[in-house]
Amino acid sequence: MSVLVTGGAGYIGSHVVRLLQNRGDKVVVVDNLSNGIQDRIGAATLVQIDLASETATKTLVETMRAHEVTAVIHFAALKQVGESVARPEWYFQQNIGGLANLLTAMHEAQVNRLVFSSSAATYGMPDVPAVSEEILCEPINPYGQTKLIGEWMVANAATAWGLRGANLRYFNVAGAGWPELADTAVANLVPIVFAALRAGKSPKVFGTDYPTVDGTCVRDYVHVLDLAEAHLSALDYLEQDNRPHSTFNVGTGQGSSVLEVLAQVRLTTGINFEADLQPRRAGDPPSLAADVTRIRETLGWSASRNLKDIIDSAWAAIS
Ligand SMILES: NC(=O)c1ccc[n+]([C@@H]2O[C@H](COP(=O)([O-])OP(=O)(O)OC[C@H]3O[C@@H](n4cnc5c(N)ncnc54)[C@H](O)[C@@H]3O)[C@@H](O)[C@H]2O)c1
Repeated sequence: MSVLVTGGAGYIGSHVVRLLQNRGDKVVVVDNLSNGIQDRIGAATLVQIDLASETATKTLVETMRAHEVTAVIHFAALKQVGESVARPEWYFQQNIGGLANLLTAMHEAQVNRLVFSSSAATYGMPDVPAVSEEILCEPINPYGQTKLIGEWMVANAATAWGLRGANLRYFNVAGAGWPELADTAVANLVPIVFAALRAGKSPKVFGTDYPTVDGTCVRDYVHVLDLAEAHLSALDYLEQDNRPHSTFNVGTGQGSSVLEVLAQVRLTTGINFEADLQPRRAGDPPSLAADVTRIRETLGWSASRNLKDIIDSAWAAIS
């Protein structure tokens, strides 16, 4: 298989690149390195362009033809919720513009298999303990909206010219499959906690009066290597003619509270720290965990790593 991976020099993309390389697939990475690291992609070819630029479609068509690409995995996107609220036009230009160019190029180069990085941010603030793909999506920020619109674009291309698409809605991704591929951004809970500890500060906990097991927010943490493996399952699924679903949650189905995460961090690091308890932040759903029935039954995928594996691997990567 020859796979084009956009955003392959990023945190999640580079894990998938490595799994593809390990199983003998040919990989070409398209990444502008705005948040990527070239060393992460090993021997894969790098095409360094901005997917959302005017010339991107032409370069993509040439790249797909030159490398005889048969499938695409699309990670390249901006992903900071706060930034998307401050700069919505930029997020739409980059995330929607980039995907429009990619789909145009795929149509022209007759590449009709696509795995798209979607997000649990498409759901907004669902008031259910485990979110299924069936519930109404009501994203509450521009980032989540770009992901939902992306799914619609994939569905429209399926109708218009026979694209085979799989949208993977990731829950909270953390951990590292290989230390050198670890998340270098300090944007999600686990890296934020580690950064606080390394600075000798108490990690902040926002909200202790939610209707959850211990009052703190509950999230579904999925190991990046499990998530990466889900992409290979999705690629295999796209080979089938009978594909009853195109959108899948990727999580463990198991929620962990912020205090449970901190307890595991204490065990993993051996550092006995206090948490800095703060009031709630606006826009945080109390609990967000995946119903993973569909992906288990349709793709035959389920997570095999737990919270301890996640925290241990993330800590090992920076120690
Ligand atoms: N990390 C998470 O917890 C999470 C959760 C849900 C969904 N996602 C989605 O997964 C995907 C990958 O996330 P990640 O955490 O690996 O992020 P990342 O920032 O590490 O990787 C994204 C990569 O895309 C590249 N890129 C961004 N915009 C580009 C453009 N216009 N043209 C070319 N390259 C571009 C960046 O340089 C980077 O290498 C994103 O689409 C993100 O929205 C991530």
